[in-house]
Amino acid sequence: MSISHVSVIGGGLMGTGIALVIAEANKKVQLIEVSQERIDSCLFSMKKTLERKVSKGKLSEEEMNAALQRIDFKTSMDSISESDLVIEAVPENLDIKKAVFAKIDKFANEKAILASNTSGLSIAAIGSATKRPENVIGLHYFYPVPVMELVEVTPSIVTSQSTIERSYHFVESIFKKPVKCKDYPGFLVNRLLIPMVNEAIYCVMEGTKPEDVDAAMKLGANHRMGPITLADFVGLDVLLATMEGLYEGFSDSKYRPCPLLKKLVESGNYGKKTGRGFYQYNEDGSKGKSVV
Ligand SMILES: NC(=O)c1ccc[n+]([C@@H]2O[C@H](COP(=O)([O-])OP(=O)(O)OC[C@H]3O[C@@H](n4cnc5c(N)ncnc54)[C@H](O)[C@@H]3O)[C@@H](O)[C@H]2O)c1
Repeated sequence: MSISHVSVIGGGLMGTGIALVIAEANKKVQLIEVSQERIDSCLFSMKKTLERKVSKGKLSEEEMNAALQRIDFKTSMDSISESDLVIEAVPENLDIKKAVFAKIDKFANEKAILASNTSGLSIAAIGSATKRPENVIGLHYFYPVPVMELVEVTPSIVTSQSTIERSYHFVESIFKKPVKCKDYPGFLVNRLLIPMVNEAIYCVMEGTKPEDVDAAMKLGANHRMGPITLADFVGLDVLLATMEGLYEGFSDSKYRPCPLLKKLVESGNYGKKTGRGFYQYNEDGSKGKSVV
């Protein structure tokens, strides 16, 4: 059974991008948000993304309008029963996600796949909020969704084979690349990448300059962006929460968050989004000198 109609719950940074790439792949989408104000903001950011593609000659005006027409915006879940797949993209908090999944379970079609875009929470725990955990799976997109090709596909220990296969085909049908992961904290990318960034912060704590750590990984490991700059861009609060998730999830000291990372978060300096982290940021968002 192919997937032609999708509901996305939550139209923040990720949900907006997810809804957009699905609509661009010729599928009908319903985006559910909490208020008309949030819907207006989703539509504004979608139009901006599409207009940029039009100005670069990557999309025609007709294709842009057709994609937008395939998206419906709603403030209630009443009509998600039309969808073959429901993707949740609300904030990364297990209690919030469980409450949203309990509600999705009430309204969604009995054959629908129920997916979470969680960055690393347990899919088994999220699925336990429903009466059909065999239909629940992780579909983890990466930011910015229109650009990043990977989707981590994470079944829980009780997800059915047919849910896994249908999810795989769906990801390919929207021109993304699925990679199958195990349902353990951080899945694959965050489990490998975030501890490396945490280790880079230990190097800064020991006295190496952020500029030197970044230059080393760019020139010696061919990384496009140094780990300290990456930390500032991801947000130090998000980084700390991810490390804490790995530390608690595996009960393993190798994931201990660096004390310097904790200090910066405690001081309210979260990186680029607050104008200061390991580096200072100018008003136009450009990066200045390191300040740690
Ligand atoms: N930001 C990233 O780079 C990134 C990358 C990959 C995965 N994720 C994951 O994606 C998920 C969403 O993250 P985000 O950055 O888009 O968050 P966000 O805060 O930008 O957006 C969350 C949206 O959900 C809406 N929302 C909250 N409760 C709702 C409800 N009951 N019904 C409908 N909408 C509701 C909010 O109004 C908000 O617009 C999280 O699980 C996060 O871990 C984030």
